[in-house]
Amino acid sequence: MKENQLNVPVIRIDSISKVYRGEGFEVHALREVSFNVEKGDFVAVMGPSGSGKSTLLNILGCLDRPTSGTYFIEGEAVSKLNEKALARTRNRRIGFVFQSFNLLPRLTAFQNVELPLIYKGIGRSTRTEVVRRYLGAVGLADRMENRPNQLSGGQVQRVAIARALVNEPSIILADEPTGNLDSRSGEEVMKIFQDFNDQGKTIILVTHEDDIARHARRILKFRDGSLIADEVVNERLRADDRIQEIEENEHVQEAEMAQ
Ligand SMILES: Nc1ncnc2c1ncn2[C@@H]1O[C@H](COP(=O)(O)OP(=O)(O)OP(=O)(O)O)[C@@H](O)[C@H]1O
Ligand SMILES: [Mg+2]
Repeated sequence: MKENQLNVPVIRIDSISKVYRGEGFEVHALREVSFNVEKGDFVAVMGPSGSGKSTLLNILGCLDRPTSGTYFIEGEAVSKLNEKALARTRNRRIGFVFQSFNLLPRLTAFQNVELPLIYKGIGRSTRTEVVRRYLGAVGLADRMENRPNQLSGGQVQRVAIARALVNEPSIILADEPTGNLDSRSGEEVMKIFQDFNDQGKTIILVTHEDDIARHARRILKFRDGSLIADEVVNERLRADDRIQEIEENEHVQEAEMAQ
């Protein structure tokens, strides 16, 4: 039976639990968590440190398996996939922007973004065109030949986003992508996510910051491994407006300094 793809949520998790067991310890990182994510949603995942956010993202990203419960990506049961099929799903359908997924330090921004396309077997001229387009989209057209240590923290994060998007994944997972950034760079990162979400991409983003979460359409709140709230964001913040506000404040400050 072929399911109607249009009606299938991008993500469906049903009563997922994750228990870490070791010598003398047992941590219930996730407790029977269930929710759906529809295509084109933008979800912020919030909760105190240790509440299970990264554990959830690792499972959603097929980097780890739950102890119990089921997980479907676009109607396909992930738990039934063997390692090879899991890796294929991960590469084809999921784009990661994780703080621990660092760029390769010896490669330029261009080469870092090009890498997933090389793995995919895309020819050189198409690669060049696609990499230029995505680095342009994240505002780095003039930094393509810089290596990561020749870029600011915000620019590095934008290269990581371009690399995550270049494969055209159906789901983008981001763990604290604005965590180490000043507010201006954070807004620029959120602008990229909002632009891609406006084009129908599904985004799930972990953040500690209320202001960042309010750029999403929906907020899932976790505590001690349990999902405790699932809220629609009223009066969403738009990164475009926030960047404009920041710029206006900068001008005011400059004018005051000049007096
Ligand atoms: N590999 C592991 N082995 C044992 N316990 C783990 C492991 N990974 C995470 N944990 C525990 O599981 C719980 C959830 O961790 P997780 O990393 O998901 O939290 P988090 O919400 O992402 O926190 P933070 O905001 O600090 O990043 C914590 O109590 C943590 O100590
Ligand atoms: Mg975490």
